[in-house]
Amino acid sequence: MSESLPGEMEGLEVTDCAACPELCESRSRIVNGVGPADADLVFVGEAPGANEDEQGEPFVGRSGDVLTEALRDRGLARRDVRITNCVRCRPPDNRDPKGAELTNCKGYLAAELEQVDPELVVTLGKVPAQHLLERSVAVTKEAGTVHDARVGEGSYRVLLCVHPAATLYDRSQESTFADALDEAVALAGLDEDGGGQSRLGEF
Ligand code: URA
Repeated sequence: MSESLPGEMEGLEVTDCAACPELCESRSRIVNGVGPADADLVFVGEAPGANEDEQGEPFVGRSGDVLTEALRDRGLARRDVRITNCVRCRPPDNRDPKGAELTNCKGYLAAELEQVDPELVVTLGKVPAQHLLERSVAVTKEAGTVHDARVGEGSYRVLLCVHPAATLYDRSQESTFADALDEAVALAGLDEDGGGQSRLGEF
């Protein structure tokens, strides 16, 4: 696996990479995934934004608050799940990652998923959905659907979900997001009957 990586990876963390010149210029740091190395549920976003770049952790801004609250509403803590991105460096002016940048970073995501080996991967937004399914996706229409996707050497069950930020500017997306989250928690076996990892209710 490591021969196909454009930079250095130690365990689940990319420690050094200079594959994307514009991203090297715009990032303050590489933002790796967070959460258990054996998480049942992995959320995959697009790329770090300003808050994530500053704090070095995915989904810590307003959309992160939406995700954290949705997990809490379902009896899960943020630390119970793994949260990562397709691209680990902040694109300039928060633009979408370019195709080459997604391609450069894919080996890291593949290595992360291979090591974590989750029950379910949830894509947050259009970019990660299209990246993992390798086709165009109408994310609002397809949210809640489950697919098998190959990423690197592994094959994963992938549930499509709208980006949490979508709920902030379009109230009609709230139920789409909530329904996909309900399904994600159930499919990963983390609902009330499913047991799973550390649960808020147990503290
Ligand atoms: N949006 C994303 O897609 N990823 C983050 O880490 C934060 C916001």
